[in-house]
Amino acid sequence: MSPITIPPLSEDLESVLIDADTIQRKVSDLSRRISEDYKDSDGLVVVSVLKGAFMFTADLCRQLSVPHTVDFIALSSYGNRDYSSGNVRLIMDVRENLADKDVLIVEDILDSGHTLSYLVRNFTARQPSSLKTAALVSKPDRLLTDVKLDYLGFEIPDVWVVGYGLDYAEQHRTLPYIAVMNRT
Ligand code: IMP
Ligand code: MG
Repeated sequence: MSPITIPPLSEDLESVLIDADTIQRKVSDLSRRISEDYKDSDGLVVVSVLKGAFMFTADLCRQLSVPHTVDFIALSSYGNRDYSSGNVRLIMDVRENLADKDVLIVEDILDSGHTLSYLVRNFTARQPSSLKTAALVSKPDRLLTDVKLDYLGFEIPDVWVVGYGLDYAEQHRTLPYIAVMNRT
């Protein structure tokens, strides 16, 4: 594992919920499982949901042992930061044609599930040969949709987390660990 200098916890963060080593071990596990599941695939396209999934995607794909390409999509759900309105908007689409490809959507976190549910519907219409979903983190207590995850890193309680791609108002995205925001 490459040496990472762990930055100290800033004042607006309450505690580290998932440390960097634990994340890296989980990402390696997921990568192994995905490599095994797609060993016979002849066209895996990993679609990373910006911005939150950029770090997870980079670490995950670096360890995949099957041929794959990476593409990016950007979405936003407008409304208050604390809950998803369900109005998901496409900001930037993937460049690749997904028809007849094995598509794996990589998300940072599943909250209400509206974002992933929108993506699954949108991508299904493009007729991929298969479509699966991965998320690093899920908050099962907040889930409002019946969207299913094929690969999941961690289940966490209903708290706002930052780091490893996740932000609060664009802050803390590049921390190597996942931390809980202070409520005060
Ligand atoms: P959903 O559509 O409600 O599932 O929300 C998904 C999006 O909300 C995620 O992709 C994140 O961008 C954002 N989000 C939800 N919970 C958190 C959190 O605890 N920290 C940072 N971003 C979050
Ligand atoms: Mg996201």
